Amino acid sequence: MLHVLNHPLITHKLTIMRDKNTGTKDFRELLYEISMLMAYEITRDLPLEDVEIETPLCKMTGQIISGKKLAVVPILRAGLGMADGFLKIAPAAKVGHIGLYRDHETAKPVLYYYKMPEDISERLVVVTDPMLATGGSASDAVSMLKQNGCKQIKLMCLVGAPEGIAVMNEQHPDVDIYIAAVDSHLNERKYIVPGLGDAGDRIFGTL
Ligand code: PRP
Ligand code: URA
Repeated sequence: MLHVLNHPLITHKLTIMRDKNTGTKDFRELLYEISMLMAYEITRDLPLEDVEIETPLCKMTGQIISGKKLAVVPILRAGLGMADGFLKIAPAAKVGHIGLYRDHETAKPVLYYYKMPEDISERLVVVTDPMLATGGSASDAVSMLKQNGCKQIKLMCLVGAPEGIAVMNEQHPDVDIYIAAVDSHLNERKYIVPGLGDAGDRIFGTL
């Protein structure tokens, strides 16, 4: 299922990120802030369990998150910028890394790194990547996690193209996508239009 998180705070911050005059420091901070807001929504259906506590006034039955183990898996490099915000909200989550870059000629993802926590198959996995363009990177990342035994996977993105969303829906219909905006289309170089440019370069200042 596609969840478009068009909250005014997210939309406002994303518009500043899209502006080509926004520099690396602000871009990274805004991505961090948006990721925290998105984490709030992504974790909305975490199960709760009852716990007996005592307030300064009396005993009561409260609720805490019931042992559901989380993992955040950024797709390198740009996904790192979203994982930090997610970890601020869910600091006990473990972190896996998938290194993928898009070949400049073919726009197909090339794997260069893969490292997961040992118990990844028992965790609710949140894959982070700001850009969902052709969908190749996200789809390959999810396929690898499924091969690793992961059963519950969510995808957290910032901006997507209809093409990438269609690929994910076709290849991984079980994976919920959380996204701040769905843009118009891909250009001839497979960049999202209007988009925000190359997310990795803008986060790390490698333009
Ligand atoms: C970008 C982005 C995604 C991918 C999206 O990464 O962060 O991983 O492209 O494109 P797709 O949906 O067509 O696969 P990039 O290859 O530029 O690597 P980087 O994050 O290291 O800059
Ligand atoms: N990767 C990016 O960083 N931006 C795009 O628009 C497409 C892929």
